[in-house]
Amino acid sequence: VTTTAREVALDALVRVEQGAYAHLALPAMLRRSGLADRDRAFATGLVYGTLRAERRLDDLLGRVADRPLARLDAPVRAGLRLGAYQLLDGLPPHAAVGETVSAVAARTVRARGYVNAVLRSVAALGPPWPEPSSQAVALSYPDWIVDRLVDDLGPADASATLTAMNEPGALTLRPNPLRTTADALRDELVGAGITVAPGTLATDALVVRGVGDPARLPAVRDGRATPQDEASQAVVGVLDPQPGERAVDIAAAPGGKATAIAERAGAVVALDVDAARLRLVADASRRLGLAGVACVVADGRALPLHDGVFDRVLVDAPCSGLGVLRRRPDARWRVHADSVDELAALQRALLGAAARAVRAGGVLLYSVCTLTRAETVDVDDWARRSLPELVALAPPGPPWRRHGRGALLLPQDAGTDGMYVLALRRSSSTVS
Ligand SMILES: C[S@@+](CC[C@H](N)C(=O)[O-])C[C@H]1O[C@@H](n2cnc3c(N)ncnc32)[C@H](O)[C@@H]1O
Repeated sequence: VTTTAREVALDALVRVEQGAYAHLALPAMLRRSGLADRDRAFATGLVYGTLRAERRLDDLLGRVADRPLARLDAPVRAGLRLGAYQLLDGLPPHAAVGETVSAVAARTVRARGYVNAVLRSVAALGPPWPEPSSQAVALSYPDWIVDRLVDDLGPADASATLTAMNEPGALTLRPNPLRTTADALRDELVGAGITVAPGTLATDALVVRGVGDPARLPAVRDGRATPQDEASQAVVGVLDPQPGERAVDIAAAPGGKATAIAERAGAVVALDVDAARLRLVADASRRLGLAGVACVVADGRALPLHDGVFDRVLVDAPCSGLGVLRRRPDARWRVHADSVDELAALQRALLGAAARAVRAGGVLLYSVCTLTRAETVDVDDWARRSLPELVALAPPGPPWRRHGRGALLLPQDAGTDGMYVLALRRSSSTVS
């Protein structure tokens, strides 16, 4: 029995509803599917698109379905959303409806008629599609995310940010300087028929197109490159670790930044509270041939490190992740408003503990892939008051925007993930 892209997409949507993370579950399902690269890319677009657009799709389905979506079986609900997404995305109705109905029928045959009828009614609604009742419905975000970003960034920037995060993020590679150069890696990729553009934000970053599964690229498999968004690459650029320096990343898993630090400094202490996730750091280090990555399972709020000995300390703190929603299509439905304040408290505690590890003259970098005031400038305000021995360093310039003593990168400004950085230097050796 051959599997179709729509069947894999449908199964993935059901798995996500059951609690799986799309960016982890889908690649594994695609690897098992035997689908050709083109179909894998199509299935990925369907799953990510459907998850992002969920609220908008439910609004359309709610106008025509005679039963609440919540009462339907999971594959039927997923099939309706999947079909409605394709219609909204402009696919011809015969393919969007017919092939989605077949995919659902291959799972629950008795739902065929119902799914067919509802999707045909959706197809009859547009285009032009009915006007959504609010910006949150139109852009398909929970109300709280829209309200929070409008409050924190202002309506124009919030709107541009929310729109940018509905577009898929480009795949960006970071060359491993121990094994290749940006030029050699670019030539290798171009030779394999891949379109490559230089990054605009991080030196050596390569933005690539036409790669279905980055893990299957020989350069990635053999440790010559790491997939990492340019904003994350730029964070390590701001930290600027030098060869031979002592560096620690106190929230290191899955290791994107810790391995980048080790590529530059030669070594890093990679600490994380989550032992299972920390194993990913060890795996990545092995793949990249980095012998100097010391993995330590510990709570960053009670660091098992000597005070005042590290040249570079990175606190890439757990956060609400509102800057990376384009890469985590299901995340917008998982994050809750309440968690922002809890995370901000954890961020302050991690930053306070990390500050002790920095030597006099050493650098402490706080970064989060989110955009809320509470997790950015408010953490900076706290640091200014509570860590007076740490003075702010000049934040990176445009496209970063000055934000408190740090800088904010909005996804619409450079086509990257959203990110905040605050770079501090310890002015004295007294650890309070
Ligand atoms: C934003 S992620 C780090 C990403 C990583 N720096 C990278 O570039 O790949 C935040 C990490 O903080 C870890 N974490 C959460 N609470 C922690 C704590 N109390 N101490 C140390 N790590 C913690 C999580 O397990 C998670 O891996």
